[in-house]
Amino acid sequence: MSRSTRRIAHLSDVHTLDPAHRRSSARYRIATRAVSLGRPVDPRDRARKLARGLEAAKASGADHVVITGDLTEVGDPKEFEHFAQILSDAHMPEGTVTLVPGNHDAYTSAAGWRRALEGPLARYASASATDAGKVVDRGEVAFLPIDTSCFQSIARSGGMFTPDAARAVQARIDDPGLRDKSIVLVMHHPPFVRHGNPLSEWVDGLRGCKHVLEMLARHPRVQILHGHMHRVVDRIVDLGKGVAGLANRARILGAPAIVDDAEVPRVRLYDLGDGLLESAGLFAM
Ligand SMILES: [Fe+2]
Repeated sequence: MSRSTRRIAHLSDVHTLDPAHRRSSARYRIATRAVSLGRPVDPRDRARKLARGLEAAKASGADHVVITGDLTEVGDPKEFEHFAQILSDAHMPEGTVTLVPGNHDAYTSAAGWRRALEGPLARYASASATDAGKVVDRGEVAFLPIDTSCFQSIARSGGMFTPDAARAVQARIDDPGLRDKSIVLVMHHPPFVRHGNPLSEWVDGLRGCKHVLEMLARHPRVQILHGHMHRVVDRIVDLGKGVAGLANRARILGAPAIVDDAEVPRVRLYDLGDGLLESAGLFAM
């Protein structure tokens, strides 16, 4: 394990494809076209962007990298293998990469993420989303990677923060052993409704997001890194009375999508200051 975390690089929404896409089944080709929403279905281009994003993360001096879901286009085993190969080729040090699944990673199978962690992504399992309440202790920062994905039709893109997950995460936040650390929940779905329409929560949002917002309101050291929106997000939580000094710090932070960036993808950076993450801009190379 390397030194304590002072800088974090945040990548998201990679949407890796099977490199043999053109020779794969008609069912796979139709599904990936449908969920690509008009983007070019080009496995090599997407792989190149992830590789460059990882190079940028390393060059930025980040001590830890988080990739907040939609690692693959439909959660196909071949896609997970390809994603793992690109990570491996980038020689990311063990224990310094935190992965969580997104809705796309669960379109093929309810067990796809677990099988990927037991198979091609085994090297990254120790720092990635497995059981609810898991803590990845990196010195001054404790990451809590959370799986919000659920097996569902490609017509839906929502996620779920279950009451069990809420209890497990709450217990960790209350743990005196983490009292002096900056706590970072890492999850794909942001804890709000994308279009401001409560009806969209079921289709596209995070069911159970009120548990997350309650935690943020009660605990000023808790922050969230998320994906799903495919753009930079800086949201401030209304902390209520008593912790007004922290009220103007964004604590819900989203990163742009690797898949949507041009040839040179942008990586979002944060530096640790006063126990909270400070946005350090976007970095590309
Ligand atoms: Fe995505």
